[in-house]
Amino acid sequence: MSNLNKDTFFKIFGSGVFNGEVPFYTTPDDVKALIALSRTFYPKTVIEIGIQRGGTAKCILDNSPWIEKYIGIDVIPSFTTTLSIQRGEVPQIAGEYVKDDPRVELIVKHNGSRDLEPSDLPEADFIFIDGDHSKKGVFLDTLLARKVIRKGGIICWHDYGNHLVPGVTEVIDTFNRNEGDHICFVEGTMICFQFCREGR
Ligand SMILES: C[S@@+](CC[C@H](N)C(=O)[O-])C[C@H]1O[C@@H](n2cnc3c(N)ncnc32)[C@H](O)[C@@H]1O
Repeated sequence: MSNLNKDTFFKIFGSGVFNGEVPFYTTPDDVKALIALSRTFYPKTVIEIGIQRGGTAKCILDNSPWIEKYIGIDVIPSFTTTLSIQRGEVPQIAGEYVKDDPRVELIVKHNGSRDLEPSDLPEADFIFIDGDHSKKGVFLDTLLARKVIRKGGIICWHDYGNHLVPGVTEVIDTFNRNEGDHICFVEGTMICFQFCREGR
């Protein structure tokens, strides 16, 4: 695993200090890491897999006026999540906090990202993976993201190191073992990121 100390990360990419409420599903440092990357790389097209009600999306959007399109993907309210621990996360109204932002497009499918082909999505500058936290879910979302990200874009994963959803850590560790540690963990957060040399 490539690890980056949190203080070093924020020195390199900026503090990520933001205006607005701390979202429910991400810690202040998790959001700061995402916003610091946004403020450094100015993504125009962003995709979030597992937008839930849009708490983190609102924070990113409100602090990133350069974003032109933000695509939020989620499942329908009656969906039964792969992991029982995620059952309470399925939103009644996916992306409800950001649905009136004209930059936002919500894609709500029966099986969420499982129902999407790369061709259903535009080339993205920044992709945040925070959907199905099962091993298979994280694996498939990573493959999907890697087919959609542009060369030089950034993929971020949430919940690395979260012992409640160990599949996230296991899958990222496996990618890193097989590929040579291209995914970097920001210590003290639950965020991992990769700068993608390969892409669309
Ligand atoms: C932890 S919550 C996401 C929190 C959100 N990213 C945030 O930071 O505010 C996980 C979300 O993933 C969604 N989800 C579960 N399986 C999914 C799938 N196959 N495709 C897309 N979303 C999925 C759940 O419905 C839930 O909204």
